[in-house]
Amino acid sequence: MAAFILNSYMIKISLNFGSKNYDINIGKGILQKRIFDKSIRYAIITDSNVRKLCGESLQNLLKKQGADVAMLDFPAGEESKTRETKALLEDKLFEMNYDADSMIIALGGGVVGDIAGFVAATYLRGVSYMQIPTTLLAMVDSSIGGKVGINVDKGENVIGTFYQPKGVIIDIETLKTLPRKEMLNGLSEIIKCSMVRSYNFFEYLEKGIGRSDDNFYLYSIERCCRLKARIVELDEKELEFRKILNYGHIIGHAIEANEKYKISHGEAVAVGMAYEGLISFQLGLLKKEDLERQNALISRVGFPTRYEGDVSKLIEVMKHDKKRKDKKIHFVLPKTIGEVIEENGHVTLAVDETLVRECLNN
Ligand SMILES: NC(=O)c1ccc[n+]([C@@H]2O[C@H](COP(=O)([O-])OP(=O)(O)OC[C@H]3O[C@@H](n4cnc5c(N)ncnc54)[C@H](O)[C@@H]3O)[C@@H](O)[C@H]2O)c1
Ligand SMILES: [Zn+2]
Repeated sequence: MAAFILNSYMIKISLNFGSKNYDINIGKGILQKRIFDKSIRYAIITDSNVRKLCGESLQNLLKKQGADVAMLDFPAGEESKTRETKALLEDKLFEMNYDADSMIIALGGGVVGDIAGFVAATYLRGVSYMQIPTTLLAMVDSSIGGKVGINVDKGENVIGTFYQPKGVIIDIETLKTLPRKEMLNGLSEIIKCSMVRSYNFFEYLEKGIGRSDDNFYLYSIERCCRLKARIVELDEKELEFRKILNYGHIIGHAIEANEKYKISHGEAVAVGMAYEGLISFQLGLLKKEDLERQNALISRVGFPTRYEGDVSKLIEVMKHDKKRKDKKIHFVLPKTIGEVIEENGHVTLAVDETLVRECLNN
């Protein structure tokens, strides 16, 4: 456990995909100490908030080191994750004659990571890019694993691809300016990560979740990155196993859609985990005490474990969810804290709509 964190302390996690290997570096204050390759032409892609908070200082650092670097930004927010933004960014890269040897730096939250990574994946048939996540959610989830994409009317992230970065740099110093609401979004994914993959980590969270000091974040980010790295190494393209990371998200997405995104992603996923855990309990899989421990942790973060809106609408949304394959609804279900049900190589279980409805009405 990281008990003695110095400013220069750096955790390194390697990802191995056969021919594509890269590192995730995690630490405090590591960004300003980074030596960039001055023979490369960089383009920092960021959003309007992050540009001012850490974009300009990163650009200055690169310039000081003698690198050629431009910064492109777009208005902050999920609404910017569109084809139009992607096209505008690509046009700017063309205007500045960025060639195939350039490197894109995705500096920001998940929105920036997804869109900048997608630009990198298709610009001149692919240029290299680096992820520098600045939200807790991006540090523990979206910057790891190479899923990139945009939203269209038909759905979120339905246009995209898998494109691994050359590296990920996680500097918790950038979290200093992150609003509490955004920190909570990350905490929800952290709990999810422990629920699907690590009992030890869950126990650590039970002891430390209110602490929120540097050591707590460094250790939690490291654990999530390690767990996610091992998951995506096994199933990069989400053919099956990687789906375990969708725990809490089937009901969570339905709540978000039903509330027209007035509820944060973290809260929706927290409530989603409470109900999906309950479904597992009702199926005789998850023990009652494990469900209660999960829900107690969720409550300690300050999230509800119940949905107060119209339950029948949630079922309607889930029936239209792209993950639905037949008359039943498919869920990733925990069988204990730190492990999900796996049956014949599948990590999702088809659950009768009636049972789902009963649980939601509980
Ligand atoms: N690719 C994946 O595997 C994956 C996984 C999960 C989520 N996602 C995507 O991630 C997105 C959500 O990411 P998010 O929650 O980071 O949202 P976000 O990128 O919109 O960031 C949230 C807000 O925080 C601001 N911000 C970012 N860093 C900051 C900082 N250090 N200080 C102050 N403000 C800061 C942003 O400007 C924005 O207003 C969604 O689009 C989702 O689809 C992708
Ligand atoms: Zn999520």
